[in-house]
Amino acid sequence: MIPIELTRRIFRLFTVLKMGSKGIKLWFYYNSPKFVRTYLWKKNNLDLSHLNDTFIKNSIFSDNLLELKDYGITKFAKIESSKLDSLLNTYHIDKTRNNTIHLSLDSDLVRSVIKDLKILEFLSEYYGGYAYLRENPTISCLVKNDPKLHHKPSRIYHSDGYRQVSLMMLLNDVNDSNIHMEYCLSSHKKQQLTYDRRRLNQELIDKAFKKFPLIGEKGSLFIFDTEGFHKGVYNLHKSNPKDYRVIMHANFHPGIYEKIKI
Ligand SMILES: [Fe+2]
Repeated sequence: MIPIELTRRIFRLFTVLKMGSKGIKLWFYYNSPKFVRTYLWKKNNLDLSHLNDTFIKNSIFSDNLLELKDYGITKFAKIESSKLDSLLNTYHIDKTRNNTIHLSLDSDLVRSVIKDLKILEFLSEYYGGYAYLRENPTISCLVKNDPKLHHKPSRIYHSDGYRQVSLMMLLNDVNDSNIHMEYCLSSHKKQQLTYDRRRLNQELIDKAFKKFPLIGEKGSLFIFDTEGFHKGVYNLHKSNPKDYRVIMHANFHPGIYEKIKI
């Protein structure tokens, strides 16, 4: 083993130990051999075999459920700009640097999006069991000329694993020369061979899948299964260096991590 790889592994081990039992559990889930990860996948019913035609037809979320099952991503809703502005006016969003605001679970924004749109109910149908929030939702801003953007791990294709589902709502208009996320359509159907992004062949993924850019008008709300490959496209050399993208973001899971309900 080359010394630099050994150093990296020791550093990662210290990071995991610092997080305590939570860190060790996560490390185990992500770094176990394939047969252990396959067992955990089956134990949590992540093959989605319950999503047959009859089940989908009888759902009040039929169209979105079918898209999420077939493509791994669905445009779930569009919230009117005026409604969004009144929900956002209590937050000061700095659009000159990368930053994140953690939202309270009983905030009007979280209630209006996650509760009123019945996101947990929708995802419970997708999982065939309860869906939970993984942590408090956030508002996050990325800016092209923030140097931290160049080093973000999400700039390459990766899978977040174990069917974690993400909600991303655009809080400003985003086109394909702005910062945006790209999703590899239908890449979510089976468990990935590895969750270690450094082991993924980026070129092969790029060639194998049709891409879906998460762009659109302010208020566009996407839901995607992060078992599928996705990455941040930062377009650093295109258009204005002061370009920014603001999103509301939330992660959901079928009971693997801390079980947060609202
Ligand atoms: Fe991710």
